[in-house]
Amino acid sequence: MTTNLILGKDVSGEIYGELRQRIEALKSKGMVPGLAVVLVGEDPASQVYVRKKGEMCEELGMHSVTVRMPADTTQEQLMDKVRELNEDPSVHGFLVQLPLPPHLDEEQVINAISPSKDVDCFHPSNVGRVLIGNPDFLPATPAGVQQMLIRSGVETSGKHVVVVGRSNIVGKPMSAMMVQKGLGADSTVTVVHSRTKDLASITRQADILIVAIGKPRFITSDMVREGAVVIDVGTNRVDDPTHPKGSRLVGDVDFDAVKDKVSAITPVPGGVGPMTICMLMANAVKAAERALEVSS
Ligand code: GUN
Repeated sequence: MTTNLILGKDVSGEIYGELRQRIEALKSKGMVPGLAVVLVGEDPASQVYVRKKGEMCEELGMHSVTVRMPADTTQEQLMDKVRELNEDPSVHGFLVQLPLPPHLDEEQVINAISPSKDVDCFHPSNVGRVLIGNPDFLPATPAGVQQMLIRSGVETSGKHVVVVGRSNIVGKPMSAMMVQKGLGADSTVTVVHSRTKDLASITRQADILIVAIGKPRFITSDMVREGAVVIDVGTNRVDDPTHPKGSRLVGDVDFDAVKDKVSAITPVPGGVGPMTICMLMANAVKAAERALEVSS
């Protein structure tokens, strides 16, 4: 079987081209879309993500604000910053990078973000809108996966999609999106997770297997049907003495074992990864477009 590699840089490149045009259109009407990212503390992975988000904003010609707050920031100080960004007319969307230091209450922070600026789509009102099929924003990673399927020509209508993992960020919204009516959806969806009995017997029934369980190489060849489409959302750092860094990134799927059996697969790195920032930028542009509609 010839295997099609679905690459995030190809799909995101196409979307960035469309976003540039939408940004130009906004600028011609006097609006520069603005995205702010709040980083509390010095978590190394978060620092990398936040830097990449800022760089992408600049590259697209968007207004970019990075708010760095010390690790001992109080809940009240962070809540004040959220309220300030809710009110800032130059910031159309913003997010607070997670995880927060353990003394801070993430839920209270997310609940305080204005739903109209919630480009992460983490606010309960936006999560609810995804569930009922009338979303303002889509959560970035599941939206990225859906765009990869659509833009690679993978038929989803009537197909059995098995989602492995039930996180609030990927598994749950992904399943809600795939079961909706419409393009890149209309699927029959099963969600499996760490407590599922005989998980392999279910993953083997998948036409499209979307894996976000956070366990390196969890999906082995015997768990995948011949000809399936496999989307690997996992990014796990594992020890590898042969690698210059002493470690490397692997997905939740045993790529080498699975790749020759499937019709299409996303590699790690280079698969879903680049899509998340891309769809975040898409949400920021959408927030700006909506702000302009409301003001005119
Ligand atoms: N940490 C890891 N992924 C994300 C994300 O998508 N949004 C936020 N706010 N924090 C994260």
